[in-house]
Amino acid sequence: MAILDKHKIIETNATLLLVFSFLVVTVGGIVQIAPLFWLENTIEKVDGMRPYTPLELAGREIYVREGCYVCHSQMIRPMRDEVERYGHYSLAAESMYDHPFQWGSKRTGPDLARVGGRYSNEWHVDHLRNPQSVVPESVMPKYRFLEDRVIDGRYIQDVMSTHAFVGVPYTDEMLENAQADFLAQGDPDSDYDGLIERYGDKVTVSNFDGQPGLSEADALIAYLQMLGTLVDFSTFTPDASR
Ligand code: HEC
Repeated sequence: MAILDKHKIIETNATLLLVFSFLVVTVGGIVQIAPLFWLENTIEKVDGMRPYTPLELAGREIYVREGCYVCHSQMIRPMRDEVERYGHYSLAAESMYDHPFQWGSKRTGPDLARVGGRYSNEWHVDHLRNPQSVVPESVMPKYRFLEDRVIDGRYIQDVMSTHAFVGVPYTDEMLENAQADFLAQGDPDSDYDGLIERYGDKVTVSNFDGQPGLSEADALIAYLQMLGTLVDFSTFTPDASR
């Protein structure tokens, strides 16, 4: 074909090939980047999203520290096999308060974006202690030591301030009550009304690891149990106009 013959000219001339490649990449780049200048926001506002409670945030820090993201992703892609296995595909808004985000790039274990509420707290305790006790073929390491590491939230206000600094809408009241809210969420006998008032009724107050006192396991399980539970997908409709 005539047009393919002409293509040979480009293919046999390195300079010409470079110039045309540059042109193609430029057009492609403009098509991708230009719309972002006119969009006010790339994150669709979604009902139900709230910042992490102090205890959940501490759990998230442990998740990052232990490198759970090396084996677990937190992003359900909009493909049928994923949606059937893990639930509704992840929304940008669902990681808007994650600094840094935990999308991950490797799935040695399953995606965790919607693991919240899928198992009981007891299951998580057993699983973190010894994954092979509940899933014999599991290659996940044991995290029993988390139960022995006592935490009191003495630094949580600083962590929250840092997140507020990068844009998480923690109010002054949330910051002032950081440590009290931290302790209240792990103790069903405490006075946790303030915590619920500040963060909403989707906050679970529980003795997550089933043992007296607060440990890193409590924080991590509080975090795992809320993952993907904030948005109500029975009422959510994607807004394609944004
Ligand atoms: C070496 C890779 C590896 C690391 C690191 C790892 N996991 Fe896993 N995880 C797995 C595998 C494999 C499975 C699937 C088998 C099982 O349930 O144990 C799994 C399963 C899970 C599940 C159950 C998910 C489901 O839907 O059934 C949870 C929850 C979980 N991991 C949490 C964690 C947390 C929290 C950390 C960090 C403290 C962590 N994992 C670190 C490999 C890993």
